[in-house]
Amino acid sequence: MKRFFIRTFGCQMNVYDSERVSAMLTARGWTNVPEASSADIIIINSCSVRDKPLQKLFSCSGRFLPLVRKKGVKIFIMGCVAQQLGKEIIEKAPYISGVFGPGAEDMIPDVIEKGLFPFVSNSTDLLEREEIFPVDSKGNFFEQYTSSITVMHGCNNFCSYCIVPYVRGKEVSRKASSILEEIDILISRGVIEVTLLGQNVNSYKDPVTGMDFTELLYEAAKKPGLERIRFMTSHPKDFNEDLAAAFRNIPSLMPHLHLPAQSGSDRVLGMMNRKYSTVEYLSKIELARKHCPDIALSSDFIVGFPGETEKDFDKTLELINTADYDVIFAFAYSPRPGTAASQIADTVPEDEKASRLNAVLELQRKKIRKVRGRYLGRTVKVLVEKESPKSGTLMGRNEHNLLTHIIDATDADRGRIIDVRIDEILENTLRGKKNENS
Ligand code: SAH
Ligand code: SF4
Ligand code: F3S
Repeated sequence: MKRFFIRTFGCQMNVYDSERVSAMLTARGWTNVPEASSADIIIINSCSVRDKPLQKLFSCSGRFLPLVRKKGVKIFIMGCVAQQLGKEIIEKAPYISGVFGPGAEDMIPDVIEKGLFPFVSNSTDLLEREEIFPVDSKGNFFEQYTSSITVMHGCNNFCSYCIVPYVRGKEVSRKASSILEEIDILISRGVIEVTLLGQNVNSYKDPVTGMDFTELLYEAAKKPGLERIRFMTSHPKDFNEDLAAAFRNIPSLMPHLHLPAQSGSDRVLGMMNRKYSTVEYLSKIELARKHCPDIALSSDFIVGFPGETEKDFDKTLELINTADYDVIFAFAYSPRPGTAASQIADTVPEDEKASRLNAVLELQRKKIRKVRGRYLGRTVKVLVEKESPKSGTLMGRNEHNLLTHIIDATDADRGRIIDVRIDEILENTLRGKKNENS
């Protein structure tokens, strides 16, 4: 038997790519195994957005070295570090047999079958392909009832700290016809919830018809059987009234908006090249709440950007206090090679970054009680997906994208959207019981 193991770091787009590579290999007679130790090919899908993921890549691949020596296992690197470092990866770690940048992953099966080792492809031209994967690799390989779909790849925004435009290339939108066909396939396989992905979905534009992202949402919503739609990410500078109104007009568009603020200081936002002020950012939140008063908001923040003073940082805390987020992701600034910000000295000491990070997380922990208090005693709708690895209870996400444990759900509830009465708010999740009538 030909067996492969795949490990994914980074964002949902990497997860999507891993899923399609897995489907491609399966179509060629390979089997996906959950343990690297029983695989013939180990694929690591890498992320380079911060320094840690990069270290993780080398410590992860190094751990598999004994398998290469003993059993002749082949290790492949795909994803953003593959693009960033290319053949340097093999120079640094000669036991690695293949490096595939985003846009080259469709070559993986042929490289294996023809034994073309070591193989390196990270040409930037490949990043500009509209459709990277073969049509027969569409589908829900990883999850049963939910799926992501990348609708566009790359990014043109060049936020000064961010490596994504360099490793993922220019913005390229996929054809709406291909995305909608992918939704049909997913529905036919039992998927009832899709998340449309792009670094900035507001820039989506069908290369054939010119359809924009909001129009694409309305088209997707017409698909019978598709009960839930989500999307991410929307750049605050481009989030507009049309998209906000879609939350009101499309019943299947779930009330959750990921609107990354990055900082609450206008001075820092300027240095980050984000192209909005805090006041403008807050007005976008108001716009979302005007059309969907109960919307759940989430955001990303970077602390310790070069030159961020105590005063700047206080403004970030102030913004978090004002915005009432359901979820926050906060990161310590990490200089990335080739980015504009990496030219400026990384002035905030690491221990100061760590203490600012803690302050953000501490504030959010306090805020969660207030913000999520609104779910207590309320009946929410949860798509029952799978067992919690820790407690074994069934869980899924509610409308607001919060992970919800349902203590009395049974296998018969899997794949259904059921009413759940929330009686406990935990740090990262909600917990409740099935509502008698559901
Ligand atoms: N396109 C998305 C997110 C891309 S990366 C957006 O625009 O929001 C995900 C998150 O990683 C970013 O929102 C940012 O908060 C964080 N990030 C990106 N580059 C970083 C860096 N150099 N250091 C620390 N965090 C970073
Ligand atoms: Fe990076 Fe900014 Fe593009 Fe997001 S919008 S991927 S943060 S450059
Ligand atoms: Fe990481 Fe690449 Fe995504 S750098 S965050 S995996 S686009």
